[in-house]
Amino acid sequence: PQDQLDEIYAFAIDLARKAGKLLLERIGERNVDQIYTEKENAVDLVTQTDEDVESLIKTAIQTKYPTHMFLGEETYAKGQSREYLIDEQPTWCVDPLDGTVNFTHAFPMFCVSIGFIVNHYPVIGVIYAPLLDQLFSSCLNRGAWLNEKRQLPLIRKPSIPPMPSNAPSKCIFACEWGKDRRDISDGNLHRKIESFLNLAAERGGRGGKGGMVHGVRSLGSATMDLAYTAMGSVDIWWEGGCWEWDVAAGIAILLEAGGLVTTANPPDDLHAPIEPVKLGSRLYLAIRWVP
Ligand code: IPD
Repeated sequence: PQDQLDEIYAFAIDLARKAGKLLLERIGERNVDQIYTEKENAVDLVTQTDEDVESLIKTAIQTKYPTHMFLGEETYAKGQSREYLIDEQPTWCVDPLDGTVNFTHAFPMFCVSIGFIVNHYPVIGVIYAPLLDQLFSSCLNRGAWLNEKRQLPLIRKPSIPPMPSNAPSKCIFACEWGKDRRDISDGNLHRKIESFLNLAAERGGRGGKGGMVHGVRSLGSATMDLAYTAMGSVDIWWEGGCWEWDVAAGIAILLEAGGLVTTANPPDDLHAPIEPVKLGSRLYLAIRWVP
């Protein structure tokens, strides 16, 4: 029921702010947070802060909602579960610190990401980037918001025809380096950027009018990419290799802001019919949508 969702939504916003406060406190203690451990490889980092923020969030959720399931990046990484765990039950899906590499460099694109999923559908999303003091939030049927005041998207860009039909013309395209830097066909950022630029070139040519991507961005946080797509700042975002906690809250917010999320692999199937997003995919394409 909506009133229960509204209560959970208010709780999630409060929790994200508390978690963000802890992130801010820690980034002040440079010597502490420059210390990280490498997980799967040299770019897959975890800090004590990731662990502490997850523990703060998990404890609060389990105290308030003991029957809900919890899936968090660090809990999962500890090997307590190697199964894909989101089923029909109400599930909290949390990344305590998305953009850990950014955090260790004091690059401001890092955030806490709290998603709430019912029947596989992300119904609540709260993302808080404390250094930027940007809180993105949404609840099913309640719209998507920046700092609880400004409705998303902030910009509608009437100069760009509805996507994806025109993509990537005049778009800001964002994608992530991910953690796997091997040269994998279609799963590698170098190839991806190149294919987008080539596609633009085919349409507009160098200096040609109308066909070019306006810009390519890589923010270093899949969660922030989704939030910025919901905001309207980013038009298309692609990443291969995401986990549920990287995207759950962002998908909730983008959908509520009127955006689209699918599992297409651009640019080849950019114009294919949009299939509804499936959590559990590793491949995500998010699109700012102009209705
Ligand atoms: C990572 C970031 C990164 C993305 C990776 C994520 P983490 O999350 O979002 O931008 O490319 O796929 O795993 O490790 O910083 O929480």
